[in-house]
Amino acid sequence: MGNSHMLCLFLLCLIGGEDVVKGVKGLGCNWGTQSTHPLQPNIVVQLLKDNGFNKVKLFEADPGALRALGRSGIQVMVGIPNDLLAPLASDFQAAVNWVQQNVSDYVSRHAVDIRYVAVGNEPFLKTYKDTFLHTTFPALKNIQAALVRAGLAKKVKVTVPLNADVYQTDNGLPSGGNFRSDIHDLMISIIKFLSDNDSPLTINIYPFLSLNADPNFPKEFAFFNGSAAPVVDGSISYTNVFEANFDTLISALEKNGFSSMPVIIGEIGWPTDGDPSANAEYAQWFNQGLLNRIFQGQGTPKRKTPPDIYLFSLIDEDDKSTLPGNFERHWGIFYFDGTIKYQLNIGNGKSLVPAKGVRYLGRQWCVLSPTASITDPSLASSISYACTYADCTSLGYGSSCSRLDPRQNASYAFNMYYQTMDQRIGSCSFNNLSVITNLNPSQGTCRFEIMIDLGKHEIAPRRSLAGKIQTSTMGVILALILIIYGFF
Ligand SMILES: *[C@@H]1O[C@H](CO)[C@@H](O)[C@H](O)[C@H]1NC(C)=O
Ligand SMILES: *[C@@H]1O[C@H](CO)[C@@H](O)[C@H](O)[C@H]1NC(C)=O
Ligand SMILES: *[C@@H]1O[C@H](CO)[C@@H](O)[C@H](O)[C@H]1NC(C)=O
Ligand SMILES: *[C@@H]1O[C@H](CO)[C@@H](O)[C@H](O)[C@H]1NC(C)=O
Repeated sequence: MGNSHMLCLFLLCLIGGEDVVKGVKGLGCNWGTQSTHPLQPNIVVQLLKDNGFNKVKLFEADPGALRALGRSGIQVMVGIPNDLLAPLASDFQAAVNWVQQNVSDYVSRHAVDIRYVAVGNEPFLKTYKDTFLHTTFPALKNIQAALVRAGLAKKVKVTVPLNADVYQTDNGLPSGGNFRSDIHDLMISIIKFLSDNDSPLTINIYPFLSLNADPNFPKEFAFFNGSAAPVVDGSISYTNVFEANFDTLISALEKNGFSSMPVIIGEIGWPTDGDPSANAEYAQWFNQGLLNRIFQGQGTPKRKTPPDIYLFSLIDEDDKSTLPGNFERHWGIFYFDGTIKYQLNIGNGKSLVPAKGVRYLGRQWCVLSPTASITDPSLASSISYACTYADCTSLGYGSSCSRLDPRQNASYAFNMYYQTMDQRIGSCSFNNLSVITNLNPSQGTCRFEIMIDLGKHEIAPRRSLAGKIQTSTMGVILALILIIYGFF
């Protein structure tokens, strides 16, 4: 036994050392693509592999991402955006087509290991009111039936990622948990359906938002050090909001007869910018604590087996809505370009590895001209123009660039615009208030970005080069014709 086990391990190590580690640890994360300058999908897939992620969640069936995930060894949860719920709810054929185009094709043609279809994204969020209340469950049933028809239902499970606001507790303790009264019966119908189809419930839990929403929230309780004053619930003492929140759900499930319902944490994480409590120090504190729980296989007081967890998120997305707050664009454990924000022990003593092979625009920045006056009447409108089209969330109160002086502040805004516009000629003008510099203006925690080269720059020169080649080829042909003509 011992020997064959050793041999097995040895062989596995030979054919793929990584896979041995992957088999032991299950690390998942969300890959969002709402960026003006997204990383190439193959670079992201390598980033996932290099950092031990063997599960990824996509918010939609992004063709580039799915193709790059083919034969990667990474399991995929593919999402259906909320705006597709209505058409999928009303038309079974639409669900059949969605599964055909966005699941079957990728499974059979690209060998993508799709394990889940996430129907909608937090469709019952309180702020959406009742927009998706009547379409989510019918869409879920149609997608399940379409998976059955496609012969995929055994391997590909359905789920609905829900915000933790679908449950609550009346007495402030986890044991008082139940589903929100306005959606209670709907939740029970959905959970019964998922349970009948061996599918999990998916919940997004955000201790950061608990801290963010309430200035009196005890900070330590958001983290996992166990040093917060405990919330005592009968015989259980809770020292962190994650366990308390998760067990509120477990209580709600128990109360309604689903005590063994499998649960996935679809999103959990900590942002690094755009808010006073969003910084690298807190994010590292939270995420390392979370990872340590995953590595130790630690569950919660009411559920000893730990849930599958998808970190939110892999990379920053500068094109997300800031409606929830400026922090919304800064959830990545990596910056938008796959560089490291802070170190994490990702298991077996390994630390984070940055993205490889990223191509950047030129090493130049757009800044406020040294000769420009800070009292120039067009300065304010120039900054505001720049920040309308580019991401200035790092300039806000308590953010990484909030300590810049007014001149540097203007420079930051100008540069974000210039970079977001791919350093295009004319995008660093601002009524003559700006100049291009080769000196990195970054200051302390404030990074003056250079964007990823999306190839937009190359297209123009290449085209003219192709044009030149064509002209000269034409010239040669013309000369040949003339020679031939003259020859005869
Ligand atoms: C597949 O998914 C994409 C992205 O969500 C969507 O735009 C497209 O309509 C889907 N295909 C079908 C046939 O519904
Ligand atoms: C809390 O946990 C973090 C990460 O696990 C660790 O670095 C830190 O030292 C801990 N702090 C305290 C006060 O225990
Ligand atoms: C910097 O610019 C931002 C965005 O326009 C603005 O909200 C902030 O007040 C400015 N700060 C300073 C110090 O000028
Ligand atoms: C910018 O400066 C140039 C050269 O001094 C001048 O010709 C032009 O009119 C100025 N443009 C604006 C918008 O002020």
